[in-house]
Amino acid sequence: MIIAVDGPAASGKGTLAAGLARHYGLPHLDTGLLYRAVGLAVAGKEDGPAFETAAIAAAESLDASHLTDLEALTAADTGVLASKVAVIAQVRAALFDFQRSFATQPGGAVLDGRDIGTRICPDADVKLFIQADSKARMERRAQQLEARGETVDRYKLFHQIEERDARDMLNPHGGFYQAEDAHLLDTTQMGIEAALRAAIAIVEKAKALKAGGQEPS
Ligand code: C5P
Repeated sequence: MIIAVDGPAASGKGTLAAGLARHYGLPHLDTGLLYRAVGLAVAGKEDGPAFETAAIAAAESLDASHLTDLEALTAADTGVLASKVAVIAQVRAALFDFQRSFATQPGGAVLDGRDIGTRICPDADVKLFIQADSKARMERRAQQLEARGETVDRYKLFHQIEERDARDMLNPHGGFYQAEDAHLLDTTQMGIEAALRAAIAIVEKAKALKAGGQEPS
């Protein structure tokens, strides 16, 4: 079973995807980490042709060893860099095969990102699109960063999330929209446990419909 989980920055899609993977015993790939690793590789470079060339080279040589420094990868500034390299078509093309091979491994997988249901796994068995309003997303990300000891400037973080949303929404190579057959889950008013229960209910319903059986009540 392939489960595609998409949504905007800090919507909780990563936590939900990890929870679904645990629940169904499937491997999980947070595809944002790939773009973040490419972003980190070009940190400090000025925007322009040299930035693009370096980003493409980093994407083409990316492997699992670049995904281990989670502290640097998940920093808010790295998210902004990731959204900059994510608008480069050759970066997206270079990362496609890695994501596709992960998704099509025997038994299936859970992938979360922006274009999983639209571009990477249009054939996914279940697609979820996770939404939450930008203030709720900022507050969640702030609490995650504070939990690991970082000092958070909420004003700056809110603007970083809005900046990423804007760039992601305009990304000409993205497909950062809800796939037609994706199930929308708005988690603005939900804690993580309730959101995970709701996500599992969506997956169960989709599985039952696929099997041609009864929808679980
Ligand atoms: O999901 P996360 O916030 O870690 O993603 C960081 C950035 O990587 C996003 O803002 C987006 O620009 C890019 N991204 C993407 N396609 C994906 C996953 C992430 O373009 N599948």
